[in-house]
Amino acid sequence: MTLLLHISDGDENRWAECLSEKLNGYPVVQRGDEYDPNDIRYIFVWKPEKNAFEGLDNLNAVLSLGAGVDALLGHPHLPKDVPIVRFVDDELSQRMSDYVVAHVTMHHRLYTRYRAEQLAHNWTQLYPPPAWNINVGVMGLGVLGRDAISRLLPLGFNLFGWSRSAHKIEDVETFSGDAQLDSFLSQTDILVDLLPLTPETTGILNYKNFSRLRRGVLDGGPVIINPARGKHQIESDIAKALGDGTLGAASLDVFEVEPLPKESPLWDIKNCYITPHIAAVSNPETGASYFSKVLLDHESGKPLINMVDVARGY
Ligand code: NDP
Ligand code: OXD
Repeated sequence: MTLLLHISDGDENRWAECLSEKLNGYPVVQRGDEYDPNDIRYIFVWKPEKNAFEGLDNLNAVLSLGAGVDALLGHPHLPKDVPIVRFVDDELSQRMSDYVVAHVTMHHRLYTRYRAEQLAHNWTQLYPPPAWNINVGVMGLGVLGRDAISRLLPLGFNLFGWSRSAHKIEDVETFSGDAQLDSFLSQTDILVDLLPLTPETTGILNYKNFSRLRRGVLDGGPVIINPARGKHQIESDIAKALGDGTLGAASLDVFEVEPLPKESPLWDIKNCYITPHIAAVSNPETGASYFSKVLLDHESGKPLINMVDVARGY
């Protein structure tokens, strides 16, 4: 019985330290250590390399450092029939909601306009509408979408939500499936994307959908906010929509290609707000508490939680 860490593009040593501390003697090994692959019962992964699962024939579960599992599910040698547990964590949700609230309120208060007025030394008073006149549409009503909604509601915004299956959320008008996407978008002034990346959601932030958003309430036009996955967005469509007024602004934390190439036109578009994939991060301290509990509970016969539905893709 052993837990193997396989974290590319992250601080594997820190995770190993935190997990060892929480796991009460349950053995933890890293890729560079000597171990017998037959002893590995759990593998904790982020961006696993091609050979990550080689020789691991006795796995009980794959533990995903990421809340999103699109890259993991695309791994060519991901063992079939081994359950996958993804990260669900209050701190991760809080950080993501911090980003969402900051950008929603920034656009509600017409930051793009007033930044331009300041640069032109203009004193032109245009009062932003009250929050309750602004419709915020959240795509994805899972852990992160619901958390963001719970923090936006007390600020007075009018909340709309869209998901794959139907959900009821107090004080939120909800929509589901492709058939209701148009109704959802046509009421939305500020669109927040908190969807997973699946074949169905790839490219969903496109020009056609931007032109369906509600117009006439936010000065400058409707806004999109994407801290979820870069492959949701068609960046050439975003550039076009920001240029012709179909969108008033875009806040983007994720990109089709990361790091965002230096030559991307998005960098120089004044109403495009770029951050380098920092909206939220999995914290080794809280993550170790979560994953050690998952592992030890499972070892003591309890069922796994927050399992990925591989067929669904999230
Ligand atoms: P959940 O699995 O809890 O929620 C996903 C939501 O998306 C569900 O409501 C689901 O609908 C909905 N959904 C999935 N497919 C579709 C579809 N085709 N049409 C409409 N709705 C759909 O995920 P989380 O909230 O925990 O996380 C969401 C995503 O955020 C992650 O998958 C990840 O990609 C991203 N993320 C990004 C981070 C970053 O740093 N950039 C950090 C953490 C997460 P239903 O409820 O019906 O199943
Ligand atoms: C995640 C991420 O999915 O950090 O958790 O991108």
